[in-house]
Amino acid sequence: MSLNNNKPVLPQSKKLTLGLFGFGVVGKGLYDVLHSTPALQASIKKICIRNADKKRVIPQEHFTTDANELLHDESINVIVELIDDADAAYNIVKAALQKGKAVVSANKKMIAAHFEELLHLQHIHGAALLYEGACCASIPIIRNLEEYYDNDLLSAVKGIVNGSTNYILTKIFDDGLSFKDALLQAQQLGFAESNPALDIEGHDAANKLSILLAHAFGRIAAPSEFLYTGITSIKKTDADLAKQKNLKIKLVATAQKINDSQIAAFVLPQFVEEQDELAGVSNEFNALITESSFADKHFFKGKGAGAYPTAAAVLSDIAALRYNYKYEYKKYLQENTPELSNDYYLKIFVSADDIEKIDKDQFAWIEEWHNEKNNNWVVGIIQSALLQQNNWWKQPGVSLILTKNPVVQNVEYREIGKKSLELAGVI
Ligand code: HSE
Repeated sequence: MSLNNNKPVLPQSKKLTLGLFGFGVVGKGLYDVLHSTPALQASIKKICIRNADKKRVIPQEHFTTDANELLHDESINVIVELIDDADAAYNIVKAALQKGKAVVSANKKMIAAHFEELLHLQHIHGAALLYEGACCASIPIIRNLEEYYDNDLLSAVKGIVNGSTNYILTKIFDDGLSFKDALLQAQQLGFAESNPALDIEGHDAANKLSILLAHAFGRIAAPSEFLYTGITSIKKTDADLAKQKNLKIKLVATAQKINDSQIAAFVLPQFVEEQDELAGVSNEFNALITESSFADKHFFKGKGAGAYPTAAAVLSDIAALRYNYKYEYKKYLQENTPELSNDYYLKIFVSADDIEKIDKDQFAWIEEWHNEKNNNWVVGIIQSALLQQNNWWKQPGVSLILTKNPVVQNVEYREIGKKSLELAGVI
């Protein structure tokens, strides 16, 4: 008997005709990747670019500068949006969804800024918007959060979500490069945003955390609603201290449940110990750790920036559209999604070139205090609301770095912390 006679048949897949917006690092990457994947049966019909005069590696007839040529073309059933202007991207994605076209985008800034509206547009026009490439590039996290962790057991998602800053920190720590040279390399390698301030000041990581919050916990929150900063304030003295203590400094995004109905969310530099999974994540690699009740921990690691790693995620979204895949946003749609809270404590290290810059009255508890010319630091516990409401720790010459397991939920600290809040006039 041959089992082959009973072999199941592959479901009929849709033929996809793509309209591509953008032919930069990722757009060109996708073009190459698609040409190496003929079995996908997805072809690019037209590419819309901003500057017609720029020299390109493929013939001119593939390009247009008229967005409507793609948006009004009935034969194009998928719009792939890979431009870096978030406002222009929003208009393109909105117009495409309104026309009932499926959309694939890697524009985290645009998605984080318009999450709720984009969800609504998908719903009323019955068109899918997929964006696996917008969060940690090649790491398949969004679909995993949607499908595998499709229950309320997740307690935390945390990790390194920006490739450029991780590349810069690696080069500073391991190769002794200056910040400026390391950033230049990240730009030359196509990891950084066109405006690298988005990377180094933490905005890009915050946009990604915003997307993760929606898919992990069903909570839609703009970056302005949580605590975040980048790596620009990390000083040589901080790096030296970390080395002395066998620690690394990483920019870590965290979304962590603090009770059944509340989540702590923040993106801040953090000291990680050598044996910590995140310590071994170097260069443009990203990594995410999920924590859940029964499965315990999962660790995902992959390239988080660059042409092909991002194009791979975009390609995977395109492939998913052949079978009409769409995000269901079940966690967002269910009742009682957890709220963001700033009523929790963080254990932080703060250093300053001038001791006066450290507002020690804000601390609920000070554990260590180091005082030396041009190098003063404190390790202590502080209420997150106080960090969110005050900017003393963001002034030049001051850096804030989280300690290991920074979220503190200790009643004793809460009582002491309340006093600080009263003194600061917050409550
Ligand atoms: N600039 C981003 C990064 C690109 O460095 O992570 C990938 O999203």
